[in-house]
Amino acid sequence: MIEFAGAQVRVDGGRTILEASLTLRERRVSVIGANGSGKSTLLRLINGLLVPSSGSVGVFGRDTRKEGRAVRRTVGFVFTDPLSQLVMPTGREDVELSLRARKLPSAERRRQAEDVLRRFGVHHLADRSIYDLSGGERQILALAVVLAVEPRILVADEPTTLLDLRNDALVRDIIAGLEQQVVFTTHNLDFALEAERTLVVDGGAVVFDGVPAEAVAYYRSLVGRPVRGT
Ligand SMILES: Nc1ncnc2c1ncn2[C@@H]1O[C@H](COP(=O)(O)OP(=O)(O)OP(=O)(O)O)[C@@H](O)[C@H]1O
Ligand SMILES: [Mg+2]
Repeated sequence: MIEFAGAQVRVDGGRTILEASLTLRERRVSVIGANGSGKSTLLRLINGLLVPSSGSVGVFGRDTRKEGRAVRRTVGFVFTDPLSQLVMPTGREDVELSLRARKLPSAERRRQAEDVLRRFGVHHLADRSIYDLSGGERQILALAVVLAVEPRILVADEPTTLLDLRNDALVRDIIAGLEQQVVFTTHNLDFALEAERTLVVDGGAVVFDGVPAEAVAYYRSLVGRPVRGT
């Protein structure tokens, strides 16, 4: 459960770039809105990468400002560009690094890393340089790295934006099959519809919050583009 209580993010000069008060309990929450509307800012508040200037954000009752480390163990975060989070030369090393948080004997850590890589169908890529992989392969590896430690919540900022049709479908399938709560942003409105609840962000505020189909229609109306054929 994620709770935004009067959370406001202000930047230099006092300008408010986001304010939100809402509770997210649904398993799938999508966030849509124009470039610069505040979607990534909203997501970054969830794992304490960013703390609100006023108000608070809580994850399972833990305040992101006071218990940032514990929150980050609970919330996995996937960036749009996997190269911004894959830090090791190969995927296998990155998954093993992620598993270090579990403080396992090294043989057990290697075994668990192999399991994770197989579960996501990327074990055959695990020993190649991450720079020799395609964008889609990297994105799935980045997901594997984050999910290796089984966070209770996954936050994904435009996880399919850089992907072709096939990898887009693959990543969406992986996300659809996850047990945990997932909050994601996307500019792909079909993907947004795969959630149970959709937030529309505009000018730093959540301007619509509800059923995905209605949220998408609202977003289209904001942009002044009705659904084709209507
Ligand atoms: N540290 C900062 N200082 C000043 N302005 C910032 C800062 N961080 C974000 N902003 C501004 O806040 C606004 C919201 O940014 P954000 O990245 O959340 O948008 P977004 O909805 O994710 O957009 P996109 O669809 O392009 O990813 C933008 O205008 C951005 O320039
Ligand atoms: Mg963004």
